[in-house]
Amino acid sequence: MIKKCLFPVAGYGTRFLPATKAMPKEMLPVVNKPLVQYGVEEAVEAGIDDFGFVTGRGKRAIADHFDISYELETQIKGSGKEELLSSIRNLIDNNRFAFTRQNEMKGLGHAILSGRNLIGDNPFAVVLADDLCMGDEGGPGVLAQMAELYNQFRCSIVAIQEVPPEETNKYGVIAGEHMKDGLYRISDMVEKPAPEDAPTNLAIIGRYILTPDIFEIIENTPPGKNGEVQITDALLTQAKKGCVLAYKFKGKRFDCGSIDGFVEATNYVYQNIYKA
Ligand code: G1P
Repeated sequence: MIKKCLFPVAGYGTRFLPATKAMPKEMLPVVNKPLVQYGVEEAVEAGIDDFGFVTGRGKRAIADHFDISYELETQIKGSGKEELLSSIRNLIDNNRFAFTRQNEMKGLGHAILSGRNLIGDNPFAVVLADDLCMGDEGGPGVLAQMAELYNQFRCSIVAIQEVPPEETNKYGVIAGEHMKDGLYRISDMVEKPAPEDAPTNLAIIGRYILTPDIFEIIENTPPGKNGEVQITDALLTQAKKGCVLAYKFKGKRFDCGSIDGFVEATNYVYQNIYKA
């Protein structure tokens, strides 16, 4: 069973400046809930109860969000507003939250390695909160779908989605042998290839399940694209040694790291969740 989840949240969020000048991008609200809370709720639905955050300077609001605010609770006790805090209070009461820092920006692989002490020798999920994911209506969330596959196959799994060929340079891109129902065994992975160099248009989105041997592999992975240590490169090594799967999930994904995706997510959540 996957019980742990790592959130790399040290990135600057420059695409949302000036909103993210003094506020973490992960705290941007989609309607009335910060992005990062959607990610945590998706993980809880998948059976996870132990959360590690790899933070950086200027990210204290995330730690405060996952801690009790006694003053606020006392203030609104007995008023109609109490209920508005119940979703986050339930998360705080039923899960563990731990924080560590990535003190240099050396890529997603490096961020994940920085969380090693919070994970130990356990398989774990990674959520990039910028990608807001929703399962199909009435069906399981994306991490829950992946956790079930992990229980069957016991190896690392990345979530994938088809993207327009001209957008491969924004993603890690995979190639592999199709096994069944949107499940591929990875044979190649490239970080942000130009369209003419991309092996396919199957792009990795921000949901991973990783087996703990990945840490040692990352330690031995040299900097790649943009001079950063890429999880994509480490996963290719893992795929060549054994097996890494890619899973075309059932559901939707909004790229909330971009203004367009963020607005789309907001409209979707407003219409289909908040107003429903
Ligand atoms: C990261 C990964 C990339 C992946 C993407 C998903 O890139 O490096 O492989 O496709 O997340 O959102 P970033 O968006 O952080 O540049």
